[in-house]
Amino acid sequence: MMANIIDGKKLSSEIKQFVKKEVAELKDKGIEVGLAVVIVGNNAASRVYVNSKKKNCAELGIESREYALAEETTEQELLALVEKLNIDSKINGILVQLPLPKHIDEKKIIAAISPLKDVDAFHANSVGKIMIGDYDFLPCTPAGCMDLIHSTGVDVCGKHCVVVGRSNIVGKPMAMLLLHESGTVTICHSKTTNLAEICRQADILVAAVGKANIITADMVKPGAIVIDVGMNRLENGKLCGDVDFENVSKVAGHITPVPGGVGPMTIATLMKNTMIAAKLQNNLMTLK
Ligand code: GUN
Repeated sequence: MMANIIDGKKLSSEIKQFVKKEVAELKDKGIEVGLAVVIVGNNAASRVYVNSKKKNCAELGIESREYALAEETTEQELLALVEKLNIDSKINGILVQLPLPKHIDEKKIIAAISPLKDVDAFHANSVGKIMIGDYDFLPCTPAGCMDLIHSTGVDVCGKHCVVVGRSNIVGKPMAMLLLHESGTVTICHSKTTNLAEICRQADILVAAVGKANIITADMVKPGAIVIDVGMNRLENGKLCGDVDFENVSKVAGHITPVPGGVGPMTIATLMKNTMIAAKLQNNLMTLK
């Protein structure tokens, strides 16, 4: 039996249609929604992501402003830009594309972003709110994964959810969102000794490792939901996830493809957050 392939492209376009309508309504009220996208250096993957974010903004009527800074940009210069954007009334959301060059302390930059404009939900203020379940900005990739899980019709409550990966961007907030829906959550990582055995117990398996094909068919419970956050560029230029899709799709009940699964959902959530930021800053919504 072949798993149901969860269509992230279709689901993301439904979310974006909703955001587009909301953005148009804000425009009718005289409110323009604006996103600043900051990229530092020449990371090829970052360039692809930033281009996609700008393109999505344009499609939804969101004004995007790109700041492409040289690799040699100093931490001080980047902090100065963030400070400027924090007080720029035309900018509702600030997105600093990660990773940053080694000589810049990412934590310092994230801490400098106004929590009101933190559309990535990376600031400690946003992360703390996610932890207690009262958040304004959704963590983009985890929220996208939750929408994909919901689209299967399976209730998270009581299920064993295994998250592989413990990054601040995906693994940790993903575990929190699953926990808020009463999943029983296990977080695995590179030091986990019995990874295959734990994965095999998962009703819902989220792979956010960054290693091609690390999740193989023998690690998946028959009928499980498998969400693949991986975006790995192979030597032949092909994009592939953390999950061995060809074989796992013969075991899983539901599975996301790469590309066309989680990726478009991350961007859809970012667009939604930018619209929420504009509402918060115009007192059409109040902070949680
Ligand atoms: N790098 C990888 N994923 C992301 C993301 O969602 N936001 C930003 N700003 N950088 C990233």
